[in-house]
Amino acid sequence: MATGQTKVTIQADADSFQISKHIYGHFAEHLGRCVYEGLWVGEDSSIPNTRGIRNDVVEALKKLDIPNLRWPGGCYADEYHWRYGIGPRDKRPRTVNSLWGGVVETHEFGTHEFMDLCEMLDCEPYIAGNVGSGTVQEMQEWVQYMTYAGDSDLARERAANGRKEPWKLKFFGVGNENWGCGGAMRPEFYSDQYRQYAEFARNYSGNELYKIACGPNGRDDKWTEVTMERIGHRMHGLSLHYYTTEWNNKGQSFGFDEQAYFKTLALATRMDEIIARHSEVMDQFDPEKRVALVVDEWGTWFDVMPDTNPGFLYQQNTMRDALVAGMTLNIFHKHAERVRIANLAQLVNVLQAPILTDGPKMIVTPTYHVLEMYKVHQDATYLPAEVACPHYSLDKPDLEQLSASASRAQDGNIHISLCNLHHAELLEVTCEVRGASLKQITGRLLEGASIQAMNTFEQPEQVMPVALEGISTSGNTIKLTLPAHSVAVLSIES
Ligand code: AHR
Repeated sequence: MATGQTKVTIQADADSFQISKHIYGHFAEHLGRCVYEGLWVGEDSSIPNTRGIRNDVVEALKKLDIPNLRWPGGCYADEYHWRYGIGPRDKRPRTVNSLWGGVVETHEFGTHEFMDLCEMLDCEPYIAGNVGSGTVQEMQEWVQYMTYAGDSDLARERAANGRKEPWKLKFFGVGNENWGCGGAMRPEFYSDQYRQYAEFARNYSGNELYKIACGPNGRDDKWTEVTMERIGHRMHGLSLHYYTTEWNNKGQSFGFDEQAYFKTLALATRMDEIIARHSEVMDQFDPEKRVALVVDEWGTWFDVMPDTNPGFLYQQNTMRDALVAGMTLNIFHKHAERVRIANLAQLVNVLQAPILTDGPKMIVTPTYHVLEMYKVHQDATYLPAEVACPHYSLDKPDLEQLSASASRAQDGNIHISLCNLHHAELLEVTCEVRGASLKQITGRLLEGASIQAMNTFEQPEQVMPVALEGISTSGNTIKLTLPAHSVAVLSIES
């Protein structure tokens, strides 16, 4: 393949699987300024809000069509006691968030506030329960408090706290990272714990929980093997956490050089191999793929911004993060038969955030724009795409310079997402769409002036999607040019 020449061949008439919209899920933990300030400012705040939840953030998030939101952690889930977060706010206990910065947790944002946020965003709540430091009874009662429609004491208490009707709660995590912050358990012990806790997390009043077990950390396939064997079909999903980072040398989230850029993209491509590895183990126990792989924490993890609380995990977000988002979502699409839920970490002000706030100010990041451009893939049919492209090498390993994915939406339109990974070289791309007649084609492009391009509170629109110009077609073939370090989405009426 000549430098810069790339061919993508798409089978538009393939009989394929669905890309679940839940792959586009998010995650909000009681960590740093995610919940407090990022989402919750309180009813008396001068920042415009609805029942305490900030309006600007909700308006921006609505444009992403968020399918589900995971809360209250993360590691915090296994320290969270739900009773602290209900009832009159001024009476709620003040505890210490010893995991994240040692700050005081006021519990102002609890179950009712979270469910209110999910209703504003029109998304499914995904609640992670406490196995590490909670009890079976506590978990059972939380589920009953939220979902029971009858006249029990817990349902009365919910009504007295302002919510007569039960909520619908689908996704329920039984612990989080129980191999680490969630209790330092061995997989055998966790499997037994799961069986006990999950048994008592009942289905009340027609509500059906989709129970998600704690899964492996990165490449740990022993955990997958043991939990698949011992828990099996008692779970609907098994979670997987993989962060794009080098733990002992994370580097800055901004102002990095080309080597650091390349290293991050190389780390992001590992998601493919990690999913493939766990899927293979899961296939041995569950060839019908009844248990989903739930990548409920993914994203970049860099050093915190200078002069910020190290426990708050606040980082900037550049075109490099946009590339990681685009590549990772393309990987999820490819594995969508097994990967049916995923959650970017985290929603606001933490790690690879689509939104950053500073007091009353709010900006959206390059990652936000990728999620907004890619939402056309939600619940679409995956279309196999074969890519022949140059290699991008700066260091080991070589990367394929193009990451691509295609799908057919329910209205019949085809969408193709393309990421040119190279820091400096453009790509001439030829797409052949087999088995479809192409009518109108439009494209959107996200590119930055440099790999470090980002939005700031002073310059919030440095990185914004624009129309992709210069698309030409002939029969079933589309030609276009992808600038260096850019992400594009084509929409094809067919
Ligand atoms: O997202 C930050 C933390 O990363 C989460 O709390 C934990 O689950 C993971 O280790």
